Amino acid sequence: MIDPEALARAFEAAVGRSPRLYRAPGRVNLIGEHTDYNDGFVMPIALDRDTWVAAAPRADRRLVVRSREFGATVNIDLEDGLSPDVVAQPFRAAPAADGRPEGLRYERPPTDVTCASPARPWTRYVQGIAATLGKTRRLIGADLMIASDVPIGAGLSSSAALEVACGFALLDLAGVPIDLDQLAHAAQRAEHEFAGTRCGIMDQTIACRGRADAALWLDTRSLERRWLPLSPGVRVVVCNTMVRHELASGEYNARRADCEAGVAVLAGQRPNVRALRDVTLADLDAASGRLSERVSRRCRHVITENARVGEAAEALEKGDVHRVGALMNESHDSLRRDYEVSCTELDTMVAIARSLAGVHGARMTGGGFGGCVVALVDRAAAPSVVREIARKYKSATGTTPDVWPTGAGAGVGAWPVGASA
Ligand code: GLA
Repeated sequence: MIDPEALARAFEAAVGRSPRLYRAPGRVNLIGEHTDYNDGFVMPIALDRDTWVAAAPRADRRLVVRSREFGATVNIDLEDGLSPDVVAQPFRAAPAADGRPEGLRYERPPTDVTCASPARPWTRYVQGIAATLGKTRRLIGADLMIASDVPIGAGLSSSAALEVACGFALLDLAGVPIDLDQLAHAAQRAEHEFAGTRCGIMDQTIACRGRADAALWLDTRSLERRWLPLSPGVRVVVCNTMVRHELASGEYNARRADCEAGVAVLAGQRPNVRALRDVTLADLDAASGRLSERVSRRCRHVITENARVGEAAEALEKGDVHRVGALMNESHDSLRRDYEVSCTELDTMVAIARSLAGVHGARMTGGGFGGCVVALVDRAAAPSVVREIARKYKSATGTTPDVWPTGAGAGVGAWPVGASA
């Protein structure tokens, strides 16, 4: 847990002013994987783990961003530091007499001050959201200090939490009215242009819109939303395989390209097809001769996954958690077999979870190639299920996983300094 008051004190010690505080959550997706960039349906919950930003305005046009996790500071010039091309260039602040860039005070040596760079992936998200928002709004310079307990590279959308928390902070400091749909789209664009992942809109939407005790059913085409209460009889358990997936954006983009290749063929057959969302299994069968076997399997996953989200939403509304669990199991099998985004550790974690009494279903969650499994577990069984999953995964792989029952948390917001956490 991040202690917001401790973050505020650390900010004051480093910057010499009092901050405002903001937070945005990570997410875990219950079902609806790799559907959001196909105009399909998803069902995430906001985690009860957050990225926090302490922030205060500066008199100049710079963002000076400190990361508590990485012990690093990055300078972003709002005037000329905001094109993706400058990401790898050194920061060009005029040095003061003692060799330090003017106006900065360091809690660490000056070598920690660097430009946003591919070697420090978190910096690209901050730069990306500032650049994207700054195109249409007048942002002001700011000191930011970031702290997070959303695991990084674990498929829990730490990057969306970072973009959304920083974006919200920058808009609020500048006194710009905040539209959450626009903020989500700006964060998605930052991810496309600055991190190179052609992601959908799920992660940024739930980071903006999350609600306590409810899953979000989202139509990623119309952005229509419905809130589905989580049954009090179950807990959502997150199981981190500890396999980081950060090198997987090439595979992610390749899956998206496969889907687009499928759409190009299917639209030739039925012109009203704009995305896989518009395609049925019968359409896919009819086109089978014109699609490669691989593209056909990718399309089948998306089409069947969209149907599963619809069924899961109905089941959740009726409190039929057993059915939701069965659909989660089917989802994993489809992601493993047809979409090929699972890995040995995810399959091992899923098999362990499914073998335990009290588990309704388990599947990989997020982009895949590592990261986390999500399991739906009877509330009474949750403590022993958490213990057993950790023990069995450690004995199967030699790695100690991070396994915890998560509540559904709230979306992005400001946090009153002085309120108790
Ligand atoms: C990542 C992306 C999302 C979504 C998932 C897979 O988390 O950021 O947009 O595509 O993968 O469902």
